[in-house]
Amino acid sequence: MRCFIVFLVVLGLCSCGNLSKSEFELLSPDEGISLSVGVDAEGIIRYNIHHGDELLVSKAALGIVVDSLDFTQNVMITSASKSSFSEVWEPVWGQFSEIENSYNQLELIVSKEAGQSLKIVFRLFNDGIGFRYELPGEGEAVISQETTQFNMASDNAAWWVAPCWENDEYIYQNTKLSEVTVELRNQSAPEGHASHFACETGFNTPVTMKTPEGTYLSIHEAAIWNYPGSSLCLNPDNLEITVSPAPTENYLAKVELPFHTPWRTITIGERPGDLIESSLILNLNEPLALDDVSFIEPMKYVGIWWEMHVKKSTWEMERSENHGANTANVKRYIDFASENGIRGVLVEGWNQGWDGWMNFNFTTPYPDFDMQELAAYAKAKGVQIIGHHETGGQVVNYMNQMEDAYRYYQENGLSSLKSGYVGSIDGQHHYNQWMVNHYNDAVVTAAEYRLSLNVHEPIKPSGISRTYPNLLSGEGMRGQEFNAWSSGNSLNHHSILPFTRNLAGPMDYTPGIFDLQLLNSVNAAYAQLKTIEERKAYDFKHRVKSTLAHQLALYVVFYSPVQMAADLPENYEGHPAFQFIRDVPVDWADTKVLDAEIGAFCVTARKDKHSDDWFVGGITNEEPRQQHIELTFLEEGASYEATLYADAPDADWDLNPTSYGITSMKVKKGDFIDVEMAGGGGFALSLKRQ
Ligand code: NOJ
Ligand code: CA
Repeated sequence: MRCFIVFLVVLGLCSCGNLSKSEFELLSPDEGISLSVGVDAEGIIRYNIHHGDELLVSKAALGIVVDSLDFTQNVMITSASKSSFSEVWEPVWGQFSEIENSYNQLELIVSKEAGQSLKIVFRLFNDGIGFRYELPGEGEAVISQETTQFNMASDNAAWWVAPCWENDEYIYQNTKLSEVTVELRNQSAPEGHASHFACETGFNTPVTMKTPEGTYLSIHEAAIWNYPGSSLCLNPDNLEITVSPAPTENYLAKVELPFHTPWRTITIGERPGDLIESSLILNLNEPLALDDVSFIEPMKYVGIWWEMHVKKSTWEMERSENHGANTANVKRYIDFASENGIRGVLVEGWNQGWDGWMNFNFTTPYPDFDMQELAAYAKAKGVQIIGHHETGGQVVNYMNQMEDAYRYYQENGLSSLKSGYVGSIDGQHHYNQWMVNHYNDAVVTAAEYRLSLNVHEPIKPSGISRTYPNLLSGEGMRGQEFNAWSSGNSLNHHSILPFTRNLAGPMDYTPGIFDLQLLNSVNAAYAQLKTIEERKAYDFKHRVKSTLAHQLALYVVFYSPVQMAADLPENYEGHPAFQFIRDVPVDWADTKVLDAEIGAFCVTARKDKHSDDWFVGGITNEEPRQQHIELTFLEEGASYEATLYADAPDADWDLNPTSYGITSMKVKKGDFIDVEMAGGGGFALSLKRQ
């Protein structure tokens, strides 16, 4: 931590402004964002947020019901104080090597009667706001209602997924707030998915918006501990939180006092890239809780994974002729990883339980998977096996084995694992308090066994990786897997994700498919077709809707400290474009979004944390685009070897997805590069300092 400033001012109550008789104002450090809070005639706390002169949030209510105390109405603000804070901290891994955390804070004591009070704490940053409820006292308390609102002052454009307590693997929708419908919600559901929705019209967060005046904002939450995840419900008169309840009980959370809720957050920016460059969610989390982080390793990985999704092999062993996770096949992946400087090999389907999808056993391998032999083989080759725990939603079964399972991995020298929570959780929601506590307990316990986690079907990320950086990444969006067995991901999906789900935290999308038409798997019949007519008429079962250069760009455009090279080794062997995946880092000193329009295109530059090299990724939706890149971010006076992997002139996601070219040149700060992106295309650029 480099600097630290705190000052505290206790405010008298004033009677000013237009919200209520007792109104309080707070400005961000640069005075670009302002908050006003007051109490209305019914004793409801309400707040406004302005960005400059633009009203963003209007008369949004705040409130919570704790035991028999209803703080949603008939309250008074009995005290207020302001303070400021500033520090620069260094994350263990991330988009930046240093993060500034500077804010002005307003604390309000909200009372019903003497002795019955809670605190609402607001933090205003240059890039947005966070606020939370803090409950004093001692003993157990039951929180039965939260009425936090985010009423938007305008009919903003929104990029949203459904308000679902079980699943975030929805297709993003882009509509005005006034155009959100239950029909769109239902159409966007992942195939075969049964859901518990918070409401008919609303969103899971992060939900991102653009106001008519062109301001960008994203609503989310930070530091979800011992409290459920929430969705937003778009009601006729407000945009209000709905917290995922305990399924069979009449409460949201049972807590020990003193307690505070997660931070409710709004990140605000003038360009779409401001949202990506913001560290507001991390800044609202507690500092590092671990003394030793030497076991935490950002890495690229390959794995026994895509071959099951494209049905070349199976997770199951007993009822299969072609079990993927057999010792010889795992060795093949370890060899490939070792030869290409890739540190991790994920192995799915190694343990008992897949046949029948029941009673997964996390310490008993299938007989054709030799853990000891493979762990030793990997170690000798400088590779880490990444274990896999699919719970199948049978979380009690997993909890009962969790410590043994972590010890088993530690004893075999593994340092990371991927977990999964497919399907309904026994008697719970993915987002409720019981599950939040399980997800977080897994992270804390894994740290004790020197293990890092990559969690699929997770509780949404909320920045707790600042505190526990062994939570490396997670899913919680419609990932690459959908391209293998469903109608696939839409062409604008990748240009929406960086501005929505990825704002919450690292995203294990699993990029890097080179066999985009799946000719080496589910569409093998295509390769047998002789004539152009036959090929044009071919009905692809499944496919990845992008060009090859676009897949490379995703390593830079999507942020995660673990990134998979997801395709089969045979699709990478001898492929010149694989050099970019070998070269691209996963841990960054700096991040700059050079140009973007949400849902259309995104061009991001990142500087390697461990060298002076820069990497740039650019993607477009179905529209071809010409991209001008000014190399203003390079170091003055230095020379760089630039290698550009770009769509060839005849490339097209549909007709010719693998057509690309590689160009090398010398560049320096002030130079520019012009690139043509094909429909569904993109480019990847490495800039190695000479
Ligand atoms: C869903 C996960 O997202 C995917 O990565 C995994 O392969 C399957 N579940 C099987 O566990
Ligand atoms: Ca999934």
